[in-house]
Amino acid sequence: MPRFTPETSIFDNHDVLDEEWTPETIQGRDEEIEQYQEYLQPVINGWKPKNIFLYGKTGVGKTVVTERLLKDLQDSADQFDVPLSVIKITCDNQSSSYQAAVKLLNELLRQRDQPTVPATGYSQQDIFDKLWSEIDKIGGTILFVMDEIDNISSPDDILYQIPRAQKNNYVEDARLGIIAISNDYSFTEDLSPKAKSTLRETELHFSAYDANELIAILEHRADLAFHEGVINEGVIERIAAIVAQEAGDARLAMDLLLEAGEIAVRRDSSTVSLDDVERAEEFLESNWVSSAVKAISSQEQVSLASVVFAECNGDTPSRTKDLYRQYCAICESISREPTTSRQMREHLNELAFQNLLHKHDKNEGIDGGRYYTFELEPDMKTFLQAVYRIESRVFDDVFVEKLISKTLQNSIVSESELDFVD
Ligand SMILES: Nc1ncnc2c1ncn2[C@@H]1O[C@H](COP(=O)(O)OP(=O)(O)O)[C@@H](O)[C@H]1O
Ligand SMILES: [Mg+2]
Repeated sequence: MPRFTPETSIFDNHDVLDEEWTPETIQGRDEEIEQYQEYLQPVINGWKPKNIFLYGKTGVGKTVVTERLLKDLQDSADQFDVPLSVIKITCDNQSSSYQAAVKLLNELLRQRDQPTVPATGYSQQDIFDKLWSEIDKIGGTILFVMDEIDNISSPDDILYQIPRAQKNNYVEDARLGIIAISNDYSFTEDLSPKAKSTLRETELHFSAYDANELIAILEHRADLAFHEGVINEGVIERIAAIVAQEAGDARLAMDLLLEAGEIAVRRDSSTVSLDDVERAEEFLESNWVSSAVKAISSQEQVSLASVVFAECNGDTPSRTKDLYRQYCAICESISREPTTSRQMREHLNELAFQNLLHKHDKNEGIDGGRYYTFELEPDMKTFLQAVYRIESRVFDDVFVEKLISKTLQNSIVSESELDFVD
């Protein structure tokens, strides 16, 4: 028997559920697509393109729908001899207008098999001048697509310059348009009035998917990914219900389906069951918690630990002043200097913002005053499973063991739920 044998019972095409894979057809976005198409129509008429601002939470199809429509737009443009170039970039974290301009310029150069420019060493003006001169060489309509534009820290320049390039005589006879895609609407609030008005000229909002839309997306994908009859009844509906209740994020739905399939493979089953979905959900949730805890500072980890400790004692939701006492005790036990209670409160707020904690606003009228209480957002089992796996100076083996024995003592989790403990 060979050491490796191909898996053939569950997956027909595993890659279909991969992040990189682009579907041919889009489900559940008909109205949005119709609207988007209307906004792009001027391009085919040979008119000045609209600047479009597309926003909506992560995983609601902004990128995939844009790619689909722009591909169709390019096909139509070719068919009707409309000169069109689409220059698309994805903005990296913490990039600036300058870096975005370099990226756009390089994408444009690459499409024309020209050598690209280095990311440093030029002034912003040099980059824009080069961009205008390249644009003039191409002519026609040029659409600049900036996906995840909310990652740009100071986007004013680029959002101001490109749409006005023709009016300001920087370019001669090219028609320029911007499509800006953002996970966050509030991104526009910090823009200068002119950049804001450009961007908000034509807005398009993609809402979170509801359960029915998720079912349509999942069914289509599952047909391609799995062999016939592999997915048990109710599995797709269950995943759709879980995801619709959370963020309506199609990426999460796909990840759950993939993980459930892989769990089924691991247990040598020929079908994917509701139990597999439940385990996949637990696994992804605790994965998320692990990365979130790893990503916060160690001071924030201690603040988080104080809430977890209170929760293990059944003392949450807990007030900041009580948590601060706990916080100082933990700092002492790991020989760390505590911060002030004010700073600690800021940590708690930040942790609530990141969904690691849940914050309650208490208002007890004139006598009691207003205060906040905190508790752990993920359930205790998921949290313990997550911190059990990671390397952390705060959530080290000794502390996690202590938390586990406290939760058992206080019947917050049961012995059987702690199946991840060696
Ligand atoms: N309506 C849809 N039909 C088919 N697949 C979709 C749909 N919406 C999203 N997806 C898939 O879900 C994932 C997330 O979509 P994406 O377009 O990247 O979301 P966003 O850009 O809004 O964060 C991708 O893998 C994409 O292929
Ligand atoms: Mg996207």
